Amino acid sequence: MPRSNPNDFGDVPQGCSIPLNFARSSHERNYSIQIGRGILRTIGSEIASRGISRVVIIADEAVALSHSLTCEKSFLDAGVETSVIRVPSGEQSKSIQQAEQLWIALASLNVDRRTAIIAVGGGVVGDLAGFVAATFSRGLTVWQVPTTLVAQVDSAVGGKTGINLPCGKNLVGAFWQPSGVIVDIHALDTLPSREYGSGLAEVVKYGMILDPTFFSWLESHCNKIRLRDPDAVEHIVSTCCRLKVHVVEQDEREETGLRVILNYGHTFAHAIETASGYGVLLHGEAVSIGMVMAARLAERLGMIDADICSRQEFLLTSFDLPVTSAAFDPDILLDIMARDKKSVAGRLRFVLPECIGKVRLVDSIDHNIVKEVLTASSR
Ligand code: GLY
Repeated sequence: MPRSNPNDFGDVPQGCSIPLNFARSSHERNYSIQIGRGILRTIGSEIASRGISRVVIIADEAVALSHSLTCEKSFLDAGVETSVIRVPSGEQSKSIQQAEQLWIALASLNVDRRTAIIAVGGGVVGDLAGFVAATFSRGLTVWQVPTTLVAQVDSAVGGKTGINLPCGKNLVGAFWQPSGVIVDIHALDTLPSREYGSGLAEVVKYGMILDPTFFSWLESHCNKIRLRDPDAVEHIVSTCCRLKVHVVEQDEREETGLRVILNYGHTFAHAIETASGYGVLLHGEAVSIGMVMAARLAERLGMIDADICSRQEFLLTSFDLPVTSAAFDPDILLDIMARDKKSVAGRLRFVLPECIGKVRLVDSIDHNIVKEVLTASSR
C-alpha cells in the first residue's frame, strides 16, 4: 500500500470527506464518502443541494424507526418529496423475491429517473437497494447511508450490489456506484453488540490485507474499540474507507487482481454462509472464520509462520468473533466454493496472507489440503 508515512494516517478529528475518483472515467462518477457524527440530521439539505427533489428511502425495518425517521425528517425539512419502503432485516432479504417486491413498489410510486434511492441500513439493505437502483428503469441514482459497522467500513463503498441465490451468495448483481456515501458514526451507538463485532471482522481484514501499522494499532486499542470509544471508532471507519477507496479507484470491477484482495477470507466465508443457511451467521462472523481458515491454509502451504495465524486469531477472539465453524461435509463446501466468483473453470482460488499487511491470490490449490483445513477448523 503506497503511503509516504503510515503514521500520519489516523486521528481524523470530528469528521472528514474522502473523495473517490475514477481516473479513467468522467468526473460525473466520482463521489465522496462523508464521515461525521450526527450528520444524518442534515442529509436532506446535503442531497437537495445536488439538485435532487424526490427520494425513496429503502430502509432495514430494524432501523426504520430511528435512523430512517431522522433521514425522512431531514428530507422533508429540506423540501424533498420523500417515500419510505421497509425491508425485513437479515440476509434472507437479499433475494430475487425481495428485489421484485421493491421493483413493484417503485413502479407503484411512479418513480422516474430523477428520483434518488437512499439505502439506509446495513450491508443487506445496501446491496439489495443498490441492486434495485441499478436495475429499475435501467438505473437510478443511489446514495448509500450505512448504519452498521460492516457497511460503514466495507460494503457501502465501491459499488458492489447484489442478491443471493440458494446455491451461492452474491451470484447475481451489478457494479453500480453510488452518488455519495454518508457515514454517521453515531448510528453505531445503538448497534447490537453482535452486529458491531461482525463489523470488526472486516476491520481486521483491512489490517491483514493492506496495513500492518493499522493491524498493530487494532491490537493495542482493543479495549477502546470494544467500548466504542468515538475517536477509536471514527479512526477505524475512516482508515478502512481510505484503504478501500485506494483499491476501488484502481480496480473498480475486480479485473486487475487488486480489488480481489478485499475478498480475503470470503471464499470460505461465503461457503459457510451458504451451507449454514443465510442469516444463521452474520456476514462478519463468517468472514472471521474464513480468515482463520485462509491463514491456516497459507501456513500449510508454507507461505506464513504459525505466529501470524495466532496473532490474527487472538485479535479476532479479543473482539468476541468466532474462529471455528460448525462441522459441514468438506465436499459440500468445496462444491459451493467451486461456484464462487473467484473460481475459474471450477479451480479453487484463494486470497492468502504472505505476512500481516500483504496478501496474494493463489491458484489451483490441492483440494485435499483445503479439506484438511476445513476439518481442522470446525468443531
Ligand atoms: N467487499 C469486497 C469489495 O467490495 O470488493
